[in-house]
Amino acid sequence: MTQPVNHLAIIMDGNGRWAAARGMPRTYGHKAGVEALRRTVKSVPKFGIKHLTLYAFSSENWSRPADEIKDLLSLLKLYIRRDLAELAANGVRVRIIGRREGLRPDILALIESAEEKTAHNTELNLNIAFNYGGRDEIVRAMQTVIDDPSGPVAKGERVTEQHISAALDTVASPDPDLILRTSGEVRLSNFLLWQVAYAEMVFLDCMWPDFDEHHLAEAIEIFTRRDRRFGGVEAVKGAAQ
Ligand code: IPE
Ligand code: IPE
Ligand code: MG
Repeated sequence: MTQPVNHLAIIMDGNGRWAAARGMPRTYGHKAGVEALRRTVKSVPKFGIKHLTLYAFSSENWSRPADEIKDLLSLLKLYIRRDLAELAANGVRVRIIGRREGLRPDILALIESAEEKTAHNTELNLNIAFNYGGRDEIVRAMQTVIDDPSGPVAKGERVTEQHISAALDTVASPDPDLILRTSGEVRLSNFLLWQVAYAEMVFLDCMWPDFDEHHLAEAIEIFTRRDRRFGGVEAVKGAAQ
């Protein structure tokens, strides 16, 4: 039987190209991208998805022009400020994953208030990856395991996969079932490197600002046709066990 998508992770890519195709500045694409994000958060519960992780800003995105970074940070702030009440009312629990150290105090305060105000919600777990890099997350997790006074290192025990998984920013969500990237690029760009071990990957050509419920349904349909084996063998009907 096909497994449902419990955790969907999305690399929201193509805002800049979408804007350029319209002769507009990149920020115009980022604004339209926020609308696609809002649509997606509303749509996913209809597909039975309980965990949604969105790649909003990578550790490497700081290398973009200062003006674009400024606009992206403003858009994130605006999104949280404008939508927080509605997210809270719709049972969405918001978590921001990524490196907190070095973030501006106003951004930090907003992140903390979004997490606090939605902490009791259970309908949908929304993880927003901001200042996020998969390698950075793994390094921070390893440091946490090493420094934990009641952890394996302090007790002279061996470190296991479980110790590392439990120290990752995504500890509250199971590993993603499906990773979806828009814009036609076929790469992970440092997203959830540990967690994608057995995720199915779907790459769509549409640019993120155009993404809607039909694309979501298409990605899920592709996923349901995949044969997930997790290193085992396919069950053959009628074969002796
Ligand atoms: C994704 O769109 C949004 C972020 C990375 C913040 P891009 O800005 O990467 O758009 P393209 O890839 O240049 O088209
Ligand atoms: C990945 O997209 C990061 C986000 C979607 C936030 P990029 O556009 O930054 O990735 P590259 O540079 O094409 O790999
Ligand atoms: Mg891009």
